[in-house]
Amino acid sequence: MKILITGASGRVGSAIRPYLRPEFDLRLFDLAPPATGPAEGEEVVVGDLASVADVREALHGVDAVLHLACVHGLGLTFEQSLDANYRAVLVLLQESASAGVERFVYASSHHVLGAYRQAGFDAAGRDVAPDAFYGLGKAFGEAACAMYARRFGLRVFTVRIGNADPTVSDGRTLRMWTSARDLASLFALGLRLEGLEHEVVYGVSACPDPMFDNARALALGYRPQDRAEENLAPGFRPYGAMPPELGPDWVGGAYAAAPLPPLAERGR
Ligand SMILES: NC(=O)c1ccc[n+]([C@@H]2O[C@H](COP(=O)([O-])OP(=O)(O)OC[C@H]3O[C@@H](n4cnc5c(N)ncnc54)[C@H](O)[C@@H]3O)[C@@H](O)[C@H]2O)c1
Repeated sequence: MKILITGASGRVGSAIRPYLRPEFDLRLFDLAPPATGPAEGEEVVVGDLASVADVREALHGVDAVLHLACVHGLGLTFEQSLDANYRAVLVLLQESASAGVERFVYASSHHVLGAYRQAGFDAAGRDVAPDAFYGLGKAFGEAACAMYARRFGLRVFTVRIGNADPTVSDGRTLRMWTSARDLASLFALGLRLEGLEHEVVYGVSACPDPMFDNARALALGYRPQDRAEENLAPGFRPYGAMPPELGPDWVGGAYAAAPLPPLAERGR
């Protein structure tokens, strides 16, 4: 199976490549080449998802897409997010469907639920409530994926990633951390799952008091290997030691606690 990984030069893409390489042929797509490689079984394509021509070329001969590329950040404005987080996912879905790509694995984020208070939070059945413009773009991406799955039969596997840092930095991320190994295994599940139509699961390892019920992923065969408590960062801060700007009260942490960047005047 040949997989197009968008945003492959980023943190997640770089961390998961070694786990996916033995199983899949990888086409690594990004604005800039990856810091390492390409290794055997990998191919590098530099391009911009904003360009339909670049996307068409990148999709040539591909069986499935793993869409990681996006822009993010606490100060991200709506306008800054439009090309990478809205237009790009739509172009990629449209071109994937047209090119006969079979599967689409979408890297979403827990920030689609980030505006909830964390105390007593139960993700099951909760409406999407993004905390800021990054999460809002992910909610759009999830909806666009559902549209292409239901209308055009693209097989879609959406993963709401918790926190994919190399180590666990605080009490909030302890409840939603994922190792690169577990995340890669979840992506691989979506790339192989028989009978896949449209699924939404959480990208988390084994976490204490988990923020999200990941029963669906487990039912589909996901078996996390890594434990968040065994991967604490040296300066780990439990909930009680987190400063307000890290947003300990919120599912979305700092994104929910930070001021929402203002919208630009219409036409600017
Ligand atoms: N890292 C985490 O903890 C985390 C948590 C939740 C969700 N996610 C999701 O996982 C995915 C990967 O995250 P990451 O941490 O690796 O992000 P990252 O910022 O490290 O990497 C994103 C990559 O996308 C590329 N990109 C952006 N716009 C592009 C364009 N127009 N064309 C081509 N490439 C483009 C960038 O160059 C970058 O290499 C993202 O979708 C993110 O929302 C990550």
